[in-house]
Amino acid sequence: MKERGNFGSKLGIVLATAGSAVGLGNIWRFPYMTGENGGAAFILFYIGCIFVLGLPGMISEFIVGRHAQTNAARAYDTLSNGKPWKLVGYLGILTSTIILGFYAVVAGWCLQYVYAAMAGKLVGDAAFVKTYFVTFSSHPLRPVLCGVAFVLITHIVIVNGVQKGIERASKWLMPILFVLLLVLVTASCALPGSMEGVRFLLQPDFSKLSNKVMLDALGQAFFSLSLGTACLCTYASYFTKETNLLRSAGQIVMLDTMIAIFAGLMIFPAAFSVGISPDSGPSLIFITLPNVFQQAFVGMPQVGWVISVMFYALLVFAALTSTISMHEIGTAFFTEEFHLRRRHAAWVITILASALCLFCSWSVGAFDIQLLGYSLMDFCDLLTANFMLPLGGMLACLFVGWYIPRQLVYDEFTNGGQCNKWFFLTFLFAVRYICPLAITLVFLHQLGWI
Ligand code: PHE
Repeated sequence: MKERGNFGSKLGIVLATAGSAVGLGNIWRFPYMTGENGGAAFILFYIGCIFVLGLPGMISEFIVGRHAQTNAARAYDTLSNGKPWKLVGYLGILTSTIILGFYAVVAGWCLQYVYAAMAGKLVGDAAFVKTYFVTFSSHPLRPVLCGVAFVLITHIVIVNGVQKGIERASKWLMPILFVLLLVLVTASCALPGSMEGVRFLLQPDFSKLSNKVMLDALGQAFFSLSLGTACLCTYASYFTKETNLLRSAGQIVMLDTMIAIFAGLMIFPAAFSVGISPDSGPSLIFITLPNVFQQAFVGMPQVGWVISVMFYALLVFAALTSTISMHEIGTAFFTEEFHLRRRHAAWVITILASALCLFCSWSVGAFDIQLLGYSLMDFCDLLTANFMLPLGGMLACLFVGWYIPRQLVYDEFTNGGQCNKWFFLTFLFAVRYICPLAITLVFLHQLGWI
């Protein structure tokens, strides 16, 4: 097989994997999930899931990927000597392609908002901005074109290869996004009446903890970390032997969580300030933010304009580093397993994801396409985030905890005994017992069996 690409620098690895993790999951999905699930109590449960289940799960995927140095399905296959564990890889590939389909719809909305911000179309009161969003997203063609355009942009980056495409993009844009978020948090918290929103985020009301809240928090944690799709496994296959898996996972988890919390601190104070209900669902950021840009920069409309354009453009890039990772899983699989050219393999995923994007976009706009009482888009979102990802993550933990040789796990975790030795037993305990049990309990609880 021809030499596989490697990430060029240490920083490149962490940033590219963080680029996969940080995306619309943090800035779009986290706030609306928090809003729908009542605020601070959800966040606490979410943070618990991130550190107790997400971190060990992420390291498990890293171990499988880096050791096998191949696509997700073959990685599980090789490490299990042909036992059906490769189904975990297939599950990951299926999950990530479905996510790519509906994620592209929202990424397409962001693309439209870059244009709208530039053209000054988002200027008006809360009701006006809401009408703008509804009119745009329910148009039969425009949102679809934006979504499919987004899949195509991802396609272009993917066919340019691992290192050039992914790494170069991640290195510069993530830090800028971070700084801009801080500016917007400050601006949002300075609006009149914003403290109500801060309280909503920070003062837990445990009477709001329910089955749904727990499952949503678990799903959100896995979605945000890109965990359970074998995406991290695929990225880890490009890591070098020197990469410290625990440290990299720790950095990514911290960064991802911080960005989500900042996104919350950016949205809710503003939402409370302008009277937008925190549970307004997926459109929350598209309706709230334009108000921040106008009201926080009153008297300096040019500043508001620059910041709004930059923000939506960076959101598009954050989404892109995530869609690249979703796309890469399937592309690596078809390239290596079916001996297709990378370019052709990429088309398979692009066509599947674009088709799904089309129907998902229609299902929340122009046409009423429903499955089990949900719009197709919500259905795909819930199915993947709340079931497929936790299942994939749990299987990765079981695989690493119980199936593959302990010495192999030790060698990968400690880089052959050079680092992290003291944490090994804790990690093993987490992947063997805590993660599988906790995830099973949440599932059973959801089914009403316990
Ligand atoms: N973690 C990404 C985000 O937060 C979404 C994602 C999910 C990416 C699954 C890859 C795989 O936006």
